[in-house]
Amino acid sequence: MDDLQQGDHQVLSRERFDEWRDKNRSRAIRARFKIALVEKVPLFAGLSKRELIQIAQVVKEAEFPAGSRLVTAGEPGGEMFMIIEGEAIVRAMPGRTTGLKPGEFFGEMSLIDGAPRSATVEARTPVRLLVLGQRDFWRVLDGTKTIVRKVMHTLCQRLREAEKSART
Ligand code: CMP
Repeated sequence: MDDLQQGDHQVLSRERFDEWRDKNRSRAIRARFKIALVEKVPLFAGLSKRELIQIAQVVKEAEFPAGSRLVTAGEPGGEMFMIIEGEAIVRAMPGRTTGLKPGEFFGEMSLIDGAPRSATVEARTPVRLLVLGQRDFWRVLDGTKTIVRKVMHTLCQRLREAEKSART
């Protein structure tokens, strides 16, 4: 008891209490909203509630207007993006484009191999995205095999598509 400092113990006034309670409530609402968004991303389908909560704690939500450049070919990459709403266009090879729809993700390649962005990705319409930073990307992959499989699956599909379009 002797170690207790004056100031450790704070008694909130009615106003400060209301402020604190409102802040906590809106934080809880935002957290629930983010979990609901994460739950809808196919990459995270089938995860436990606990895993979804962990991911919701580290992803950021971002909105960009149509025409925005989301990632630029040749630049270093530090994030992966999941499309919640809207559509994006991947410009991987001159004259060739690939469309990305809600539920799809991009930007994973640079996070995996550390090389610069392989393509430019632009917002075709206004887009709402979830963004996962590099360190959290690896934490999520380290903790969840199903996500590793889905990322590998998408990489294989993209390679097949790219080879097919290079042949035509
Ligand atoms: P990254 O290289 O980090 O940044 C550009 C992203 O565009 C890349 O990750 C992939 O997510 C995506 N991408 C690159 N090439 C293709 C492709 N041929 N088809 C679909 N998406 C691609």
